[in-house]
Amino acid sequence: MDDSVVRDVVAMGKFLGSLDGIGVLGVAPARAKAKAPVRLAVSADPAGVEVRARSADAARSPAASPPLALPSAPVRSDRDAAAAELSLTAIRDEIGDCKRCRLCEGRNKIVFGQGNPVADLMFVGEAPGADEDAQGLAFVGRAGQLLTDMVEKGMRIQRSDVFIANVIKCRPPGNRPPENDEITTCQPFLEAQIKAVRPRVIVALGATAGKFMAKTGDPIARFRGRFASWDDIPVMPTYHPAYLLRTPSAKKTVWEDLKLVMDVLGTPAD
Ligand code: URA
Repeated sequence: MDDSVVRDVVAMGKFLGSLDGIGVLGVAPARAKAKAPVRLAVSADPAGVEVRARSADAARSPAASPPLALPSAPVRSDRDAAAAELSLTAIRDEIGDCKRCRLCEGRNKIVFGQGNPVADLMFVGEAPGADEDAQGLAFVGRAGQLLTDMVEKGMRIQRSDVFIANVIKCRPPGNRPPENDEITTCQPFLEAQIKAVRPRVIVALGATAGKFMAKTGDPIARFRGRFASWDDIPVMPTYHPAYLLRTPSAKKTVWEDLKLVMDVLGTPAD
């Protein structure tokens, strides 16, 4: 077996092992560190967008240390970050206390999405669930924990360095899939978020996000694993973390898809 195959098997084992709760923690690869960027995180609550800026010094302080030694995101200028942050704030303001569709009746909090406003990598899920609806943050329940593991233990990127949003911003009753008119009503906000962040790659999680972003009516199993394009940004459709919780055997497939994303980002797994 040549070295690259061995490295690939080891990386996949760490990803699958950690996701299975075996507790294998990744060791950061010896990779040249980019200059630490000013990190900005945007999260939404009904009162508006909370913007937190972290200086490079603050990022180095022990209290701010990430659980894993993960590589820093490539630098985009502070001016880019400030502009993206402003755009995101304007989009959140435009959403306001939205009553554009019936989902406003049952929701607790609008889930705008959160993360690095100049993320290279963006994840798009389906819709907030109960935990997200309660907290106003995307992917914070069990599926969110698995997504964190996929990003941090698998792809070796800090979760705070990616941007995470959903196709729709309000929880559908009983977690039913979003209906077409709800998706259409919310669509301009996701589109505007993508334009603001300008990620280099998008991962569409699950059938709803996959079909929406890859513009297909096919079952997800048919089109996952192949790049589609959204406004010239490569989009990788893959299975939703909630599906992986029910079907752990599909983690291997998702890892294959994420490795293609890592290739585009220039951080191959092997
Ligand atoms: N599932 C999603 O698709 N999005 C979330 O934010 C949480 C669970």
